[in-house]
This record gives sequence, C-alpha cells and structure tokens, in this order.
Amino acid sequence: MKSSEVRKKYLSFFASRGHVIIPSSPLVPENDPTTLFTSSGMQPLIPYLLGALHPAGKRLVNSQKSFRAQDIYEVGDNRHTTFFEMLGNWSLGDYFKKEQLPWIFEFLTKDLKLDPKKLYVTVFTGEAGSGSARTGQSLIPKDIESIQLWKEIFSRVGIDAKIGDHASSADARIYTYNARKNWWSRSGEPDKMPAGEPGGPDSEVFYDFGPSTSSGQVWHDSKFGEKCHPNCDCGRFMEIANSVFMQYQKQADGSLKELAQKNVDFGGGLERLVSVTNNSPDVFTSDLFTGAIATLEQMTHKHYAADETDTRSMRILADHIRGAVMMMADGVIPSNKAQGYILRRLIRRSLLYGRRLGITEDWKYIGELVAPFAKIYEDSYPDVLIKTQQIKLLLEEEGMRFGKTLEKGLSEIEKIETLDGHKAFYLYESFGFPWEMTEEIARDRGQNIKRTQFEEEFMKHKDASRTAAAGMFKGGLADHGEETTKLHTATHLLHEALRRVLGEHIAQKGSNITAERLRFDFSHPTKVSSEEIQKIEAMVNEKISENLPVFSTTMKKEEALASGARAFFSERYGITVTVYSVGEKGREFSREICGGPHVAFTGLLGRFTIVKEESLGAGIRRVYATVTKNESAAHPGKISSKA
Ligand code: SER
Repeated sequence: MKSSEVRKKYLSFFASRGHVIIPSSPLVPENDPTTLFTSSGMQPLIPYLLGALHPAGKRLVNSQKSFRAQDIYEVGDNRHTTFFEMLGNWSLGDYFKKEQLPWIFEFLTKDLKLDPKKLYVTVFTGEAGSGSARTGQSLIPKDIESIQLWKEIFSRVGIDAKIGDHASSADARIYTYNARKNWWSRSGEPDKMPAGEPGGPDSEVFYDFGPSTSSGQVWHDSKFGEKCHPNCDCGRFMEIANSVFMQYQKQADGSLKELAQKNVDFGGGLERLVSVTNNSPDVFTSDLFTGAIATLEQMTHKHYAADETDTRSMRILADHIRGAVMMMADGVIPSNKAQGYILRRLIRRSLLYGRRLGITEDWKYIGELVAPFAKIYEDSYPDVLIKTQQIKLLLEEEGMRFGKTLEKGLSEIEKIETLDGHKAFYLYESFGFPWEMTEEIARDRGQNIKRTQFEEEFMKHKDASRTAAAGMFKGGLADHGEETTKLHTATHLLHEALRRVLGEHIAQKGSNITAERLRFDFSHPTKVSSEEIQKIEAMVNEKISENLPVFSTTMKKEEALASGARAFFSERYGITVTVYSVGEKGREFSREICGGPHVAFTGLLGRFTIVKEESLGAGIRRVYATVTKNESAAHPGKISSKA
C-alpha cells in the first residue's frame, strides 16, 4: 500500500468510531522554548491526558509529524528514521482496553489486510522483573485483562494464542515483558519518570517477517539470545503498533498514583505500517523514500540494494535530508543553536555519507533531494511544495559551505593519531565538524573520545552555542509536579500584576518554570524600579491571600479573545480553546488561554517573592520569582479541572 492510503484508512477508521481528527502540531512547537521537537503524538496532549478538557472532546485521532534526534545513530538499518509520522488515537478518560485492542487488530487485519498469523503481541508482565512499578505500597499488576482480550481476539480468527516470554519457544503468540519493554512514558520506565509525568503499561503489536529473509537468510543468530521472540534484535519482528494505557502519574515521593481518568494513547509509525503492508522489512522501500533513493541512485550510479555499505549511506542521506526538509518547511534554519544545530548536524552528516557514496564535489547535490519529498507530501504537508525553492537554496548554501571544509577536515583527521575532545573542538572550530560527527569518525576508528574535554574547550571559548532545554514540557514547565504547578499559577498572577502596575504594553516574551522558581520575560522599555517590584509583589500576594478559585472553561477562540483572555501562543487544537481564570466567575483577576495545569485555589501558593529583575536587551525584561510553601493551606493541592 501507499503511505497516503494507510494514513487515510487509519484516520477514517477512528473517525467512524467517534474520533475527531485533529491537525498535526508543528514539528517545532511555535513560541514554545521548552522542547526542541514534537517527538510523539501525545506530546501536545499532556494537559488533556492529565485531566484538562480538550476542546475537541474525548476521542481524538491524527497523524503527527515527529522527530527523534536521539535516533540519529540508529538510522542506516532497515527500520529507524529520525523524522517519522506517528498515527495516533486517544481516549481521554473515555474507552479503554476492551475497545482499543480489538479496534487495532481490526484495523491491521481488515483495513490494512495484514495476515493475523503474522501478528504477535506483547503485554506488561507486572512487577516481577521490573522492581519498580509501584503505586504506593501496592504493585502494578500483570496486565491480565489485555492477555484475556488478546486471547479472545486471536481465537475469533481461529488462532489459539499461547502465552510466553522471551525465553519461550517460538509458538507463543502473546509475550509478556517487564517495564523495560512494556511500559511507556516520555522518560521510559517508572524509575526514570520525573514527578508529574504520566505513563502506563502498554501492549504492542509486532509483525513477523518469518524465520528467514526473502533471499533465504535466517534472521536469528544466537548472538541475539538463544530464542527468538518479538523484542529480539535480530530483525525478524517489527513493532508496528503501541497501545499505552496511560493511567498513572509519578509522584514526588517516587510512587505512582492512578490518574483520575484512564487514557489510551496509541502510536504507530506510518513508515513501518506502510512497509509491512508490502511485507517488506525495509522502511526505505516504501513510497515515502523511493523518489529520493532513485535520485541518489542516478547521482551515484550505484544500486540501492547492491552493497550493504552503500545501502546504509543511502538510507542515512534519504532520512537526514527528509528530516532537514520537514524542519525547514516548519521554519528552522541551520545554526549553532537548538533546532538549527540539529538541522546542521543532519545536513553535515548527510554530506559525509554522500562522500562515502563517492560524491566529493558539487555539494549542492543535496538540493536535488527536496523535489521527491515535496511530491510525496504534496497533499499531507503542502508547505514542503510551497517552500521547495527556499528549502533547496538553504540546503545548497549549507552544503557548499560545509562541503568546502569537509575534505580539509577529513585530511586533517587522517594526520591525527589519537583523537580526543580537544582535537574535536579544533575540528569544530576550524572545519565546522559537529562534535557528534568527529565522535562518530573516532568510533569508526576504534577510538572513544571524551565529550567533557570538548565541552571544557567550548566553555573556554565562551561559544553561546548550546543545545536546547531538551526534556522540558510544553508551556515552559519543567514538569507537572506540585511545585511547578503552583509556580505556573503564580506566573498568571504575576503577568496580570505586571500589566496593572506597569501598563497594558506588557506582553509575554517567554516563560520557563521549574519546581524551584518561575522565570518570565516581557516587553518593557525600562528597568522595573524597586517600588514597582514591591507593588507587583504586594498585588500577587493579595490575590494569594484572597484564596481565589482557579478554573478553566472551553470556548471559541474568537470568543475568548473578545472577552479579554490573554493569548500568547497559537492554539492548535481547532477553533475552541481552554481559558484558565483566577477569581470568582464574573470578577476574575486574570484570564489566559492556557493548557494548564494549575492549582485549584491561589491560597495554596504561599508567599510570592521576586528574586531578580534584569534586562535581556532590546526592551525585554526578565524576572525570577519564587513562592514559599504555605503549610497552613486549607485546601488540598489538587489540580483544577473545568469548573
Ligand atoms: N506515546 C506512545 C509512543 O510514542 C504511543 O503513542 O509510542
């Protein structure tokens, strides 16, 4: 099947089961300085998984543009890509396992026509083996319900599904694994989840390519373990679907607490789903890549499948240039910071692999790879086609700039007997070799170089280049824990107080909140005097002492703006938005379009203090503020939901 067909079938399958199709959020969240890229479909939905009401309802579906920078080195095999589309459906406290698992099976076997005999599933085995998945004192149990559901689902298609684990013989159909394999949160297993993070056990579907490849080569090798099983790394099985039962939230004391609502968070990589419909273990043979691979074949006079090393280089080029194209379509330009740095790495690494394919001149060639992607995304992401010329020029420029020094840098590397972090910095400064590229070249040479040495040099040279605050949450929050949530509400109070004390010209320019402090940037031409700071603090503390309720309502975006609610980032969930208000209905002190979370009453905040005020230049000021713990708070610290 073609990618457009799989995407369309999935969206209509869930739309006809009451799901609202929501648009893909941008790959780079707009006006959100806290995270580099959207890396899964659920990322923009965190507030709603935690209980806020989504304007589009409780059943959502979409195809989300995603990028995972951490997978760069995995690219080159038959299944990893940095950019990918994630097909996702969500139940926000609505349906759960008994609907989700049969639906996914039906979609895979009826709509995508996959042979049920080729499908294997995995389920969370419970505490045993993970040693970590605890709720208070009780253990997170084995997911018996999913096991039972899968047995019934398979039995309806005449398959007697036996249960096994990684050590079982290959005739099992339902495999159980511990939290390392069958638990999903953005940070991984329960032990790695920060306070406030939601997560839960999951159930995955794997596609079996059979014991041997089409050329007769046996997949499994004892170096991957004695027995082959769905999570074996030999390549025989491919994970194509992941239903996460997102029902827990990590607490500050390390335990897991049941969320008030049980959610389903499903994700399936489009690239993989397309390739299994064609019974191909290689995602680069799907129509998403064929245009780019054919262009590379023409340029290099090499055949994609003829030589393993060339296959790998072509995959890396095709993946990285696609990622670069999608980023540029979303407005990223190559630079030494944040997303721009990742983009630069993609382009420079592509050129290195292009060189391995024999392209050592005319570095503009990468620009020729834009057209095939513009064509394949013509309908789903028309921006790529609209911006083709601009993207091509940017790629060519970056290619020329680096191509010139690539050769020189590589011949310099040849002369260096032992590569270390200091030399890596020299290569970075003199030839533009990203650290990761030198590190990769040293690894290929059997040398491990230390990043700390590189960083020492970096600091010495006071280069402002820094990768972004990866791991932060949407809306400028470091996590969704209690302290961070309090400071989020305090930020709304501060913002309103700033406008009332300093004037209506105040506009938010940035916000960053951790459990320790809030940081708020705003437009204001002069230093905020100490008298003004005192007035602002006093106003916020007055609102805290009034113990005002905090509540959210959903309304049409236009209505929210007309009613005076502040809006600071483009709302991407359709025409309705969530507005958080502080104060009694009709007498609100502050109203902002926001995704939450917030405390239920301002009395929970404790004393508010501005600890620092400084200039960021160009008429922008920055303040840091804290709230102290208020031991006498009369109300429990719950997170507010719709009033
Ligand atoms: N969040 C899960 C994943 O990324 C399922 O959507 O795999």
